[in-house]
Amino acid sequence: MKVHHHRYDAVIVGGGGAGLRAAIEVAGACRTAVLSKLHPTRSHTGAAQGGMCAALANVEEDSWEWHTFDTVKGGDYLVDQSAAQVMCREAVDAVIELEHYGLPFNRTPEGRIDQRRFGGHTRNHGEAPVRRACYSADRTGHMILQTLYQQCMKRGVTFFDELMVLDLALVEGRVAAVIAYELATGDLHVFATKAALFATGGFGKMFKVTSNAHALTGDGPGLLFRRGIPLQDMEFFQFHPTGIYKLGILLSEAARGEGGLLRNAEGERFMERYAATVKDLAPRDMVSRAMLTEIREGRGMGPDSDYLHLDLTHLPPEQIDAKLPDIADFVRTYQGLEPKHDLIPVQPTAHYAMGGIPTNVDAEVVVDAAGTVVPGLYAAGECACVSVHGANRLGTNSLLDIVVFGRRGGRAMAAFVQEADAPEAPAEAEGEVRSRIEALKGGKGGERVAQVRQELQTGMTELASVFRTDDGLARMTEALGDLRRRNEQASIDDKGSVFNYDLTEALELGYLIDLAEALVVSARARTESRGAHFRDDHPTRDDANWMRHTLAHRQPDGRIRLDHKPVDGGLYAPMERKY
Ligand code: FUM
Repeated sequence: MKVHHHRYDAVIVGGGGAGLRAAIEVAGACRTAVLSKLHPTRSHTGAAQGGMCAALANVEEDSWEWHTFDTVKGGDYLVDQSAAQVMCREAVDAVIELEHYGLPFNRTPEGRIDQRRFGGHTRNHGEAPVRRACYSADRTGHMILQTLYQQCMKRGVTFFDELMVLDLALVEGRVAAVIAYELATGDLHVFATKAALFATGGFGKMFKVTSNAHALTGDGPGLLFRRGIPLQDMEFFQFHPTGIYKLGILLSEAARGEGGLLRNAEGERFMERYAATVKDLAPRDMVSRAMLTEIREGRGMGPDSDYLHLDLTHLPPEQIDAKLPDIADFVRTYQGLEPKHDLIPVQPTAHYAMGGIPTNVDAEVVVDAAGTVVPGLYAAGECACVSVHGANRLGTNSLLDIVVFGRRGGRAMAAFVQEADAPEAPAEAEGEVRSRIEALKGGKGGERVAQVRQELQTGMTELASVFRTDDGLARMTEALGDLRRRNEQASIDDKGSVFNYDLTEALELGYLIDLAEALVVSARARTESRGAHFRDDHPTRDDANWMRHTLAHRQPDGRIRLDHKPVDGGLYAPMERKY
Protein backbone atom coordinates (compact mmCIF):
# COMPACT_ATOMS: atom_id res chain seq x y z
CA MET A 1 0.00 0.00 0.00
CA LYS A 2 1.34 3.37 -1.03
CA VAL A 3 1.45 5.95 1.79
CA HIS A 4 1.09 9.71 1.25
CA HIS A 5 2.22 12.12 3.96
CA HIS A 6 0.64 15.54 4.55
CA ARG A 7 0.98 18.25 7.17
CA TYR A 8 -1.87 20.56 8.19
CA ASP A 9 -2.56 22.66 11.26
CA ALA A 10 -6.13 21.37 11.52
CA VAL A 11 -7.94 18.39 10.06
CA ILE A 12 -11.73 18.11 9.95
CA VAL A 13 -13.08 14.61 9.50
CA GLY A 14 -16.50 14.68 7.84
CA GLY A 15 -17.96 16.96 5.17
CA GLY A 16 -21.53 17.26 6.48
CA GLY A 17 -23.07 20.30 8.13
CA ALA A 18 -20.99 20.25 11.34
CA GLY A 19 -17.70 19.70 9.51
CA LEU A 20 -18.39 22.38 6.92
CA ARG A 21 -19.52 24.91 9.51
CA ALA A 22 -16.34 24.26 11.49
CA ALA A 23 -14.25 24.59 8.32
CA ILE A 24 -15.68 28.06 7.69
CA GLU A 25 -14.25 29.18 11.05
CA VAL A 26 -10.87 27.50 10.73
CA ALA A 27 -10.07 27.94 7.07
CA GLY A 28 -8.94 31.56 7.22
CA ALA A 29 -6.96 31.03 10.42
CA CYS A 30 -4.65 28.13 9.55
CA ARG A 31 -3.87 25.37 7.06
CA THR A 32 -6.98 23.19 7.18
CA ALA A 33 -7.99 20.00 5.40
CA VAL A 34 -11.50 18.52 5.33
CA LEU A 35 -11.53 14.74 4.80
CA SER A 36 -14.80 13.21 3.72
CA LYS A 37 -15.83 9.61 3.01
CA LEU A 38 -18.29 10.97 0.42
CA HIS A 39 -18.28 14.05 -1.73
CA PRO A 40 -19.37 16.64 0.90
CA THR A 41 -22.65 17.51 -0.82
CA ARG A 42 -23.67 13.85 -0.59
CA SER A 43 -23.36 13.93 3.21
CA HIS A 44 -26.35 12.89 5.28
CA THR A 45 -27.12 16.44 6.41
CA GLY A 46 -28.66 16.65 2.94
CA ALA A 47 -31.32 14.14 3.97
CA ALA A 48 -32.57 16.24 6.90
CA GLN A 49 -35.93 17.53 5.92
CA GLY A 50 -38.24 19.47 8.17
CA GLY A 51 -36.35 22.38 9.65
CA MET A 52 -33.91 24.05 12.00
CA CYS A 53 -35.47 25.59 15.05
CA ALA A 54 -34.80 28.98 16.57
CA ALA A 55 -37.05 31.19 18.64
CA LEU A 56 -37.22 33.98 16.04
CA ALA A 57 -40.84 34.67 17.00
CA ASN A 58 -41.54 35.57 13.37
CA VAL A 59 -45.08 34.15 13.32
CA GLU A 60 -46.04 33.98 16.99
CA GLU A 61 -44.64 34.79 20.41
CA ASP A 62 -41.61 32.69 21.36
CA SER A 63 -38.42 32.90 23.39
CA TRP A 64 -35.12 31.04 23.53
CA GLU A 65 -35.86 30.26 27.20
CA TRP A 66 -39.03 28.38 26.17
CA HIS A 67 -36.93 26.59 23.57
CA THR A 68 -34.45 25.62 26.31
CA PHE A 69 -37.24 24.33 28.52
CA ASP A 70 -38.66 22.22 25.68
CA THR A 71 -35.22 20.81 24.90
CA VAL A 72 -34.65 19.82 28.53
CA LYS A 73 -38.10 18.30 28.96
CA GLY A 74 -37.98 16.62 25.53
CA GLY A 75 -34.65 15.07 26.55
CA ASP A 76 -36.30 13.69 29.70
CA TYR A 77 -34.07 15.82 31.96
CA LEU A 78 -30.82 14.11 30.96
CA VAL A 79 -29.87 17.28 29.03
CA ASP A 80 -26.97 19.37 30.32
CA GLN A 81 -28.96 22.51 30.86
CA SER A 82 -26.27 25.15 30.45
CA ALA A 83 -25.31 23.56 27.11
CA ALA A 84 -28.97 23.64 26.03
CA GLN A 85 -29.07 27.33 26.97
CA VAL A 86 -26.04 27.99 24.77
CA MET A 87 -27.62 26.17 21.84
CA CYS A 88 -31.06 27.77 22.11
CA ARG A 89 -29.70 31.28 22.67
CA GLU A 90 -27.27 31.04 19.73
CA ALA A 91 -29.94 29.51 17.50
CA VAL A 92 -31.37 32.86 16.50
CA ASP A 93 -28.06 34.24 15.28
CA ALA A 94 -27.19 30.92 13.60
CA VAL A 95 -30.33 31.07 11.45
CA ILE A 96 -29.80 34.72 10.52
CA GLU A 97 -26.21 33.92 9.57
CA LEU A 98 -27.40 31.13 7.25
CA GLU A 99 -29.91 33.54 5.73
CA HIS A 100 -27.07 35.99 5.08
CA TYR A 101 -25.04 33.17 3.53
CA GLY A 102 -27.89 32.87 1.02
CA LEU A 103 -29.98 29.98 2.32
CA PRO A 104 -33.42 30.09 0.63
CA PHE A 105 -35.77 29.79 3.62
CA ASN A 106 -39.54 29.70 3.04
CA ARG A 107 -41.02 33.12 3.74
CA THR A 108 -44.10 34.60 5.36
CA PRO A 109 -46.24 36.91 3.20
CA GLU A 110 -44.38 39.83 4.85
CA GLY A 111 -41.04 38.38 3.72
CA ARG A 112 -39.80 37.06 7.06
CA ILE A 113 -38.39 33.55 7.53
CA ASP A 114 -41.47 31.35 7.94
CA GLN A 115 -41.73 28.94 10.88
CA ARG A 116 -43.77 25.81 11.49
CA ARG A 117 -44.60 23.36 14.24
CA PHE A 118 -42.54 20.35 15.25
CA GLY A 119 -42.85 17.71 17.95
CA GLY A 120 -42.20 18.81 21.54
CA HIS A 121 -41.73 22.52 20.71
CA THR A 122 -44.23 24.49 22.73
CA ARG A 123 -45.30 27.93 23.81
CA ASN A 124 -44.87 28.92 27.44
CA HIS A 125 -43.63 25.65 28.92
CA GLY A 126 -45.98 23.21 27.28
CA GLU A 127 -49.22 25.18 26.80
CA ALA A 128 -49.58 24.38 23.08
CA PRO A 129 -47.42 23.69 20.02
CA VAL A 130 -45.44 26.70 18.78
CA ARG A 131 -44.13 27.59 15.31
CA ARG A 132 -40.36 27.47 15.83
CA ALA A 133 -38.91 25.47 12.93
CA CYS A 134 -37.35 27.59 10.15
CA TYR A 135 -37.50 25.61 6.92
CA SER A 136 -36.88 25.37 3.26
CA ALA A 137 -39.82 23.21 2.13
CA ASP A 138 -38.84 19.69 3.24
CA ARG A 139 -35.26 20.09 2.02
CA THR A 140 -33.83 22.15 4.86
CA GLY A 141 -30.76 19.96 5.40
CA HIS A 142 -30.04 19.89 1.68
CA MET A 143 -30.14 23.69 1.56
CA ILE A 144 -27.91 24.03 4.63
CA LEU A 145 -25.37 21.62 3.17
CA GLN A 146 -25.25 23.40 -0.19
CA THR A 147 -25.04 26.83 1.45
CA LEU A 148 -22.20 25.83 3.76
CA TYR A 149 -20.33 24.10 0.94
CA GLN A 150 -20.57 27.26 -1.16
CA GLN A 151 -19.14 29.27 1.75
CA CYS A 152 -16.27 26.78 2.04
CA MET A 153 -15.58 27.10 -1.69
CA LYS A 154 -15.59 30.87 -1.35
CA ARG A 155 -12.96 30.61 1.41
CA GLY A 156 -10.80 28.16 -0.52
CA VAL A 157 -11.14 25.27 1.97
CA THR A 158 -9.02 22.25 0.95
CA PHE A 159 -11.11 19.08 0.57
CA PHE A 160 -9.95 15.49 0.29
CA ASP A 161 -13.04 13.67 -0.96
CA GLU A 162 -13.63 9.92 -0.69
CA LEU A 163 -11.08 9.35 2.05
CA MET A 164 -12.25 7.04 4.80
CA VAL A 165 -10.59 7.96 8.09
CA LEU A 166 -9.60 4.83 10.01
CA ASP A 167 -7.34 5.90 12.85
CA LEU A 168 -6.07 8.73 15.00
CA ALA A 169 -2.53 8.87 16.37
CA LEU A 170 -2.21 10.37 19.83
CA VAL A 171 1.26 11.23 21.14
CA GLU A 172 1.55 11.81 24.88
CA GLY A 173 -2.19 12.31 24.99
CA ARG A 174 -2.22 14.92 22.19
CA VAL A 175 -3.56 14.67 18.66
CA ALA A 176 -0.67 14.05 16.27
CA ALA A 177 -2.06 12.51 13.07
CA VAL A 178 -5.15 11.27 11.26
CA ILE A 179 -4.85 8.16 9.10
CA ALA A 180 -7.14 7.62 6.11
CA TYR A 181 -7.77 5.12 3.32
CA GLU A 182 -8.39 6.47 -0.18
CA LEU A 183 -11.38 4.75 -1.73
CA ALA A 184 -10.38 5.36 -5.36
CA THR A 185 -6.84 3.94 -5.09
CA GLY A 186 -6.49 1.93 -1.89
CA ASP A 187 -3.59 4.22 -0.86
CA LEU A 188 -3.11 5.31 2.74
CA HIS A 189 -2.75 8.94 3.83
CA VAL A 190 -1.17 10.19 7.04
CA PHE A 191 -2.15 13.75 7.95
CA ALA A 192 0.19 15.10 10.62
CA THR A 193 -1.80 17.77 12.46
CA LYS A 194 -2.08 19.78 15.63
CA ALA A 195 -5.83 19.32 15.91
CA ALA A 196 -8.64 17.14 14.55
CA LEU A 197 -12.38 17.72 14.66
CA PHE A 198 -14.60 14.69 14.10
CA ALA A 199 -17.96 15.35 12.47
CA THR A 200 -18.75 11.95 11.00
CA GLY A 201 -22.49 11.75 11.76
CA GLY A 202 -24.48 8.84 13.12
CA PHE A 203 -24.54 5.06 13.10
CA GLY A 204 -28.14 4.06 12.39
CA LYS A 205 -26.94 1.27 10.10
CA MET A 206 -26.69 -1.01 13.14
CA PHE A 207 -30.49 -1.35 12.83
CA LYS A 208 -32.53 -3.05 10.11
CA VAL A 209 -34.94 -0.24 9.31
CA THR A 210 -33.28 3.16 9.43
CA SER A 211 -33.52 6.61 7.91
CA ASN A 212 -29.71 6.70 7.84
CA ALA A 213 -27.73 6.45 4.61
CA HIS A 214 -25.41 3.52 3.93
CA ALA A 215 -22.36 5.58 4.90
CA LEU A 216 -23.56 6.12 8.49
CA THR A 217 -21.52 3.47 10.20
CA GLY A 218 -20.01 5.39 13.11
CA ASP A 219 -16.43 5.36 11.86
CA GLY A 220 -15.48 8.46 13.90
CA PRO A 221 -16.76 7.39 17.34
CA GLY A 222 -15.76 3.81 16.52
CA LEU A 223 -12.10 4.57 15.88
CA LEU A 224 -11.86 6.96 18.84
CA PHE A 225 -13.43 4.32 21.12
CA ARG A 226 -10.65 1.94 20.08
CA ARG A 227 -8.12 4.65 20.95
CA GLY A 228 -9.43 4.95 24.50
CA ILE A 229 -11.92 7.82 24.16
CA PRO A 230 -15.12 6.98 26.07
CA LEU A 231 -18.59 7.14 24.54
CA GLN A 232 -21.36 8.88 26.41
CA ASP A 233 -25.07 7.96 26.74
CA MET A 234 -24.95 5.34 24.00
CA GLU A 235 -28.13 3.69 25.31
CA PHE A 236 -30.23 6.53 23.93
CA PHE A 237 -31.06 5.93 20.27
CA GLN A 238 -34.00 7.70 18.71
CA PHE A 239 -36.60 6.07 16.47
CA HIS A 240 -38.40 8.56 14.24
CA PRO A 241 -42.11 7.74 14.05
CA THR A 242 -42.62 8.08 10.31
CA GLY A 243 -40.27 5.99 8.25
CA ILE A 244 -41.57 4.57 4.98
CA TYR A 245 -42.79 1.06 5.82
CA LYS A 246 -39.98 -1.51 5.44
CA LEU A 247 -37.55 0.98 3.82
CA GLY A 248 -37.16 3.39 6.72
CA ILE A 249 -36.72 6.44 4.47
CA LEU A 250 -37.74 9.52 6.41
CA LEU A 251 -41.13 11.15 5.96
CA SER A 252 -40.55 14.38 7.81
CA GLU A 253 -42.24 15.22 11.07
CA ALA A 254 -43.07 18.42 9.21
CA ALA A 255 -45.91 16.37 7.71
CA ARG A 256 -47.50 16.35 11.17
CA GLY A 257 -46.32 19.92 11.79
CA GLU A 258 -48.38 20.89 8.75
CA GLY A 259 -51.42 19.06 10.15
CA GLY A 260 -50.90 15.40 9.16
CA LEU A 261 -52.26 12.73 11.54
CA LEU A 262 -51.34 9.20 12.59
CA ARG A 263 -54.10 6.58 12.45
CA ASN A 264 -54.35 2.95 13.54
CA ALA A 265 -56.19 0.05 11.90
CA GLU A 266 -59.47 1.36 13.27
CA GLY A 267 -58.87 4.73 11.65
CA GLU A 268 -58.48 6.24 15.10
CA ARG A 269 -56.23 9.24 15.75
CA PHE A 270 -54.64 7.31 18.58
CA MET A 271 -52.15 9.96 19.73
CA GLU A 272 -55.07 11.72 21.45
CA ARG A 273 -54.92 8.92 24.03
CA TYR A 274 -51.17 9.24 24.63
CA ALA A 275 -50.56 13.03 24.56
CA ALA A 276 -53.80 14.91 25.10
CA THR A 277 -52.39 18.43 24.61
CA VAL A 278 -49.97 18.14 21.70
CA LYS A 279 -51.22 14.80 20.28
CA ASP A 280 -49.34 13.88 17.07
CA LEU A 281 -46.72 16.51 17.92
CA ALA A 282 -45.46 14.80 21.06
CA PRO A 283 -41.69 14.08 21.19
CA ARG A 284 -40.51 11.22 19.02
CA ASP A 285 -39.75 8.74 21.79
CA MET A 286 -43.35 8.99 22.97
CA VAL A 287 -44.87 8.78 19.49
CA SER A 288 -42.72 5.82 18.44
CA ARG A 289 -43.60 3.95 21.63
CA ALA A 290 -47.28 4.76 21.17
CA MET A 291 -47.16 3.43 17.60
CA LEU A 292 -45.50 0.19 18.62
CA THR A 293 -47.95 -0.16 21.51
CA GLU A 294 -50.81 0.13 19.01
CA ILE A 295 -49.14 -2.55 16.92
CA ARG A 296 -48.47 -4.81 19.94
CA GLU A 297 -52.11 -4.51 20.97
CA GLY A 298 -53.33 -5.59 17.54
CA ARG A 299 -54.22 -2.27 15.93
CA GLY A 300 -51.51 -2.38 13.27
CA MET A 301 -52.17 -2.90 9.58
CA GLY A 302 -51.07 -5.15 6.76
CA PRO A 303 -50.58 -8.92 6.55
CA ASP A 304 -48.18 -8.78 9.52
CA SER A 305 -50.15 -6.07 11.37
CA ASP A 306 -46.91 -4.10 11.65
CA TYR A 307 -47.54 -0.64 10.22
CA LEU A 308 -49.79 2.35 10.82
CA HIS A 309 -50.99 5.16 8.62
CA LEU A 310 -49.84 8.73 8.16
CA ASP A 311 -52.85 10.66 6.88
CA LEU A 312 -52.28 13.81 4.81
CA THR A 313 -55.48 13.49 2.77
CA HIS A 314 -57.25 16.34 4.57
CA LEU A 315 -54.44 18.86 3.84
CA PRO A 316 -55.01 21.28 0.95
CA PRO A 317 -53.16 19.81 -2.08
CA GLU A 318 -51.36 23.12 -2.65
CA GLN A 319 -49.99 22.95 0.93
CA ILE A 320 -48.46 19.53 0.19
CA ASP A 321 -46.98 20.86 -3.06
CA ALA A 322 -45.49 23.93 -1.42
CA LYS A 323 -44.36 22.61 1.96
CA LEU A 324 -43.84 18.86 1.58
CA PRO A 325 -42.83 18.29 -2.06
CA ASP A 326 -39.96 15.84 -1.49
CA ILE A 327 -41.72 13.48 0.88
CA ALA A 328 -44.78 13.49 -1.40
CA ASP A 329 -42.48 12.33 -4.19
CA PHE A 330 -40.89 9.67 -1.95
CA VAL A 331 -44.37 8.24 -1.29
CA ARG A 332 -45.13 8.21 -5.02
CA THR A 333 -41.77 6.68 -5.95
CA TYR A 334 -41.28 4.08 -3.22
CA GLN A 335 -44.86 3.20 -2.33
CA GLY A 336 -46.77 3.89 -5.54
CA LEU A 337 -49.28 5.97 -3.57
CA GLU A 338 -50.61 9.50 -3.95
CA PRO A 339 -50.34 11.25 -0.55
CA LYS A 340 -53.07 13.72 -1.51
CA HIS A 341 -55.67 10.93 -1.40
CA ASP A 342 -54.00 7.74 -0.10
CA LEU A 343 -53.09 6.85 3.49
CA ILE A 344 -49.33 6.24 3.84
CA PRO A 345 -47.98 3.07 5.56
CA VAL A 346 -45.32 4.07 8.09
CA GLN A 347 -43.31 2.52 10.93
CA PRO A 348 -40.75 3.89 13.42
CA THR A 349 -37.29 4.05 11.84
CA ALA A 350 -33.87 4.20 13.57
CA HIS A 351 -32.96 7.84 13.14
CA TYR A 352 -30.58 9.51 15.57
CA ALA A 353 -27.95 8.71 18.20
CA MET A 354 -28.24 10.99 21.20
CA GLY A 355 -25.01 9.50 22.53
CA GLY A 356 -21.51 9.71 21.14
CA ILE A 357 -18.11 11.32 21.73
CA PRO A 358 -18.35 13.40 24.93
CA THR A 359 -17.61 17.10 24.47
CA ASN A 360 -17.99 20.41 26.23
CA VAL A 361 -19.77 23.38 24.62
CA ASP A 362 -16.65 24.30 22.65
CA ALA A 363 -16.67 20.84 21.05
CA GLU A 364 -13.50 19.84 22.93
CA VAL A 365 -13.51 16.10 23.60
CA VAL A 366 -13.65 15.32 27.32
CA VAL A 367 -12.88 11.95 28.82
CA ASP A 368 -14.22 11.96 32.36
CA ALA A 369 -16.59 13.50 34.85
CA ALA A 370 -14.04 16.20 35.67
CA GLY A 371 -14.18 17.42 32.06
CA THR A 372 -10.54 16.58 31.25
CA VAL A 373 -9.87 17.64 27.66
CA VAL A 374 -7.81 15.74 25.06
CA PRO A 375 -5.61 18.52 23.64
CA GLY A 376 -6.38 19.12 19.97
CA LEU A 377 -9.35 16.74 19.77
CA TYR A 378 -12.82 18.04 18.91
CA ALA A 379 -16.17 16.55 17.87
CA ALA A 380 -19.40 18.13 16.66
CA GLY A 381 -22.76 17.08 15.27
CA GLU A 382 -24.42 13.70 15.65
CA CYS A 383 -21.20 11.83 16.43
CA ALA A 384 -20.72 14.07 19.49
CA CYS A 385 -22.59 14.20 22.79
CA VAL A 386 -22.54 17.71 24.26
CA SER A 387 -25.17 16.76 25.80
CA VAL A 388 -27.95 18.99 24.48
CA HIS A 389 -30.34 16.19 23.53
CA GLY A 390 -30.23 14.14 26.71
CA ALA A 391 -32.33 11.01 26.44
CA ASN A 392 -34.34 12.13 23.40
CA ARG A 393 -33.69 14.84 20.81
CA LEU A 394 -36.43 17.17 19.66
CA GLY A 395 -36.94 17.36 15.90
CA THR A 396 -35.06 20.29 14.25
CA ASN A 397 -32.59 20.53 17.16
CA SER A 398 -30.16 18.45 15.10
CA LEU A 399 -29.64 20.91 12.25
CA LEU A 400 -29.33 23.54 14.94
CA ASP A 401 -26.76 21.49 16.87
CA ILE A 402 -24.51 21.01 13.81
CA VAL A 403 -24.46 24.71 13.01
CA VAL A 404 -24.02 26.01 16.58
CA PHE A 405 -21.46 23.46 17.74
CA GLY A 406 -19.73 23.20 14.36
CA ARG A 407 -19.15 26.94 14.59
CA ARG A 408 -18.03 26.80 18.23
CA GLY A 409 -15.75 23.84 17.57
CA GLY A 410 -14.19 25.57 14.56
CA ARG A 411 -13.51 28.70 16.59
CA ALA A 412 -12.01 26.76 19.48
CA MET A 413 -9.82 24.72 17.15
CA ALA A 414 -8.62 27.83 15.31
CA ALA A 415 -7.61 29.38 18.66
CA PHE A 416 -5.90 26.16 19.78
CA VAL A 417 -3.69 25.82 16.69
CA GLN A 418 -2.50 29.43 17.00
CA GLU A 419 -0.94 28.55 20.36
CA ALA A 420 0.03 24.89 19.96
CA ASP A 421 3.25 23.59 18.49
CA ALA A 422 3.15 20.75 15.97
CA PRO A 423 3.75 17.32 17.53
CA GLU A 424 5.75 14.80 15.54
CA ALA A 425 3.50 12.16 13.99
CA PRO A 426 4.74 8.73 15.05
CA ALA A 427 6.78 6.80 12.50
CA GLU A 428 4.56 4.17 10.82
CA ALA A 429 1.42 5.93 12.12
CA GLU A 430 -0.50 3.93 9.51
CA GLY A 431 0.73 0.56 10.87
CA GLU A 432 -2.45 -0.55 12.63
CA VAL A 433 -4.62 0.37 9.65
CA ARG A 434 -2.32 -1.44 7.26
CA SER A 435 -2.44 -4.60 9.39
CA ARG A 436 -6.23 -4.51 9.61
CA ILE A 437 -6.61 -4.16 5.85
CA GLU A 438 -4.05 -6.85 5.09
CA ALA A 439 -5.71 -9.25 7.52
CA LEU A 440 -9.11 -8.74 5.89
CA LYS A 441 -7.76 -9.08 2.37
CA GLY A 442 -5.75 -12.14 3.33
CA GLY A 443 -8.67 -13.95 5.03
CA LYS A 444 -9.96 -17.09 3.35
CA GLY A 445 -13.15 -19.08 3.58
CA GLY A 446 -15.01 -16.87 6.03
CA GLU A 447 -18.56 -15.64 5.77
CA ARG A 448 -19.88 -12.76 3.73
CA VAL A 449 -19.86 -9.38 5.45
CA ALA A 450 -23.48 -8.88 4.34
CA GLN A 451 -24.59 -11.98 6.27
CA VAL A 452 -22.93 -10.79 9.49
CA ARG A 453 -24.32 -7.27 9.03
CA GLN A 454 -27.82 -8.58 8.47
CA GLU A 455 -27.67 -10.57 11.71
CA LEU A 456 -26.41 -7.50 13.58
CA GLN A 457 -29.27 -5.38 12.22
CA THR A 458 -31.93 -7.99 12.92
CA GLY A 459 -30.64 -8.66 16.43
CA MET A 460 -30.38 -4.99 17.35
CA THR A 461 -33.88 -4.34 16.04
CA GLU A 462 -35.42 -7.24 17.93
CA LEU A 463 -33.50 -6.91 21.19
CA ALA A 464 -32.18 -3.36 21.59
CA SER A 465 -34.49 -0.89 19.85
CA VAL A 466 -37.65 0.83 21.17
CA PHE A 467 -38.55 -1.74 23.86
CA ARG A 468 -35.79 -3.50 25.80
CA THR A 469 -35.42 -6.07 28.57
CA ASP A 470 -32.48 -7.39 30.56
CA ASP A 471 -32.88 -10.80 28.95
CA GLY A 472 -32.92 -9.38 25.41
CA LEU A 473 -29.92 -7.15 26.04
CA ALA A 474 -27.98 -10.05 27.58
CA ARG A 475 -28.71 -12.17 24.49
CA MET A 476 -27.58 -9.35 22.23
CA THR A 477 -24.34 -8.87 24.19
CA GLU A 478 -23.52 -12.51 23.65
CA ALA A 479 -24.47 -12.34 19.96
CA LEU A 480 -22.17 -9.36 19.45
CA GLY A 481 -19.10 -11.31 20.58
CA ASP A 482 -19.89 -13.93 17.97
CA LEU A 483 -20.59 -11.33 15.27
CA ARG A 484 -17.26 -9.61 15.99
CA ARG A 485 -15.31 -12.84 15.57
CA ARG A 486 -17.16 -13.67 12.36
CA ASN A 487 -16.59 -10.20 10.90
CA GLU A 488 -12.87 -10.35 11.62
CA GLN A 489 -12.72 -13.62 9.68
CA ALA A 490 -15.13 -12.51 6.93
CA SER A 491 -14.37 -13.34 3.35
CA ILE A 492 -13.33 -10.47 1.09
CA ASP A 493 -13.70 -11.56 -2.53
CA ASP A 494 -12.35 -8.34 -3.95
CA LYS A 495 -8.61 -8.17 -3.33
CA GLY A 496 -8.23 -5.02 -5.43
CA SER A 497 -7.50 -1.41 -4.56
CA VAL A 498 -10.09 0.53 -6.54
CA PHE A 499 -13.36 1.28 -4.74
CA ASN A 500 -13.13 -1.98 -2.83
CA TYR A 501 -16.50 -1.91 -1.06
CA ASP A 502 -16.06 -5.50 0.09
CA LEU A 503 -13.21 -4.24 2.21
CA THR A 504 -14.67 -0.92 3.35
CA GLU A 505 -17.95 -2.58 4.36
CA ALA A 506 -16.02 -5.03 6.56
CA LEU A 507 -14.17 -2.12 8.17
CA GLU A 508 -17.44 -0.24 8.69
CA LEU A 509 -19.11 -3.28 10.16
CA GLY A 510 -16.30 -3.55 12.72
CA TYR A 511 -17.19 -0.07 14.00
CA LEU A 512 -20.92 -0.82 13.99
CA ILE A 513 -20.36 -3.92 16.10
CA ASP A 514 -18.22 -1.99 18.62
CA LEU A 515 -20.78 0.78 18.89
CA ALA A 516 -23.66 -1.70 19.17
CA GLU A 517 -21.82 -3.30 22.06
CA ALA A 518 -21.38 0.08 23.79
CA LEU A 519 -25.12 0.69 23.29
CA VAL A 520 -26.22 -2.67 24.61
CA VAL A 521 -23.91 -2.71 27.63
CA SER A 522 -24.95 0.85 28.57
CA ALA A 523 -28.63 0.00 28.06
CA ARG A 524 -28.43 -3.12 30.19
CA ALA A 525 -26.90 -1.22 33.07
CA ARG A 526 -29.54 1.54 33.01
CA THR A 527 -32.31 -0.07 35.02
CA GLU A 528 -34.93 2.61 34.37
CA SER A 529 -36.89 4.06 31.44
CA ARG A 530 -36.02 7.55 30.24
CA GLY A 531 -36.54 9.19 26.85
CA ALA A 532 -35.74 6.82 24.02
CA HIS A 533 -34.47 4.13 26.41
CA PHE A 534 -37.49 2.10 27.52
CA ARG A 535 -37.10 -1.02 29.64
CA ASP A 536 -40.19 -3.26 29.82
CA ASP A 537 -38.70 -4.63 33.05
CA HIS A 538 -38.05 -1.15 34.54
CA PRO A 539 -40.82 0.97 33.02
CA THR A 540 -40.46 4.13 35.12
CA ARG A 541 -37.91 6.92 35.31
CA ASP A 542 -35.66 6.66 38.35
CA ASP A 543 -34.24 10.11 39.09
CA ALA A 544 -32.85 9.04 42.45
CA ASN A 545 -30.41 6.60 40.85
CA TRP A 546 -30.17 7.45 37.17
CA MET A 547 -30.02 11.20 36.81
CA ARG A 548 -26.51 10.76 35.42
CA HIS A 549 -24.74 10.24 32.14
CA THR A 550 -23.16 6.93 31.17
CA LEU A 551 -19.54 6.81 30.02
CA ALA A 552 -18.55 3.58 28.27
CA HIS A 553 -14.79 2.89 28.12
CA ARG A 554 -13.26 0.23 25.91
CA GLN A 555 -10.47 -1.44 27.87
CA PRO A 556 -7.27 -2.81 26.33
CA ASP A 557 -8.70 -6.36 26.52
CA GLY A 558 -11.72 -5.18 24.47
CA ARG A 559 -14.20 -5.34 27.34
CA ILE A 560 -16.36 -2.36 28.22
CA ARG A 561 -16.22 -0.61 31.58
CA LEU A 562 -18.94 1.85 32.56
CA ASP A 563 -18.73 4.89 34.74
CA HIS A 564 -20.90 7.95 35.08
CA LYS A 565 -20.93 11.70 35.26
CA PRO A 566 -23.52 14.02 36.74
CA VAL A 567 -26.11 15.83 34.66
CA ASP A 568 -25.68 19.60 34.61
CA GLY A 569 -29.20 20.47 35.82
CA GLY A 570 -30.29 23.27 38.04
CA LEU A 571 -32.48 25.41 35.85
CA TYR A 572 -35.44 23.07 35.42
CA ALA A 573 -36.13 20.39 38.02
CA PRO A 574 -37.36 17.08 36.60
CA MET A 575 -41.13 16.89 36.29
CA GLU A 576 -43.51 14.26 35.09
CA ARG A 577 -43.22 14.33 31.33
CA LYS A 578 -46.79 15.02 30.23
CA TYR A 579 -47.68 16.50 26.86
O1 FUM B 1 -38.68 14.87 10.59
C1 FUM B 1 -37.74 15.53 10.21
O2 FUM B 1 -37.81 16.37 9.33
C2 FUM B 1 -36.46 15.30 10.88
C3 FUM B 1 -35.89 16.28 11.52
C4 FUM B 1 -34.88 16.02 12.56
O3 FUM B 1 -34.51 14.86 12.78
O4 FUM B 1 -34.49 16.97 13.23
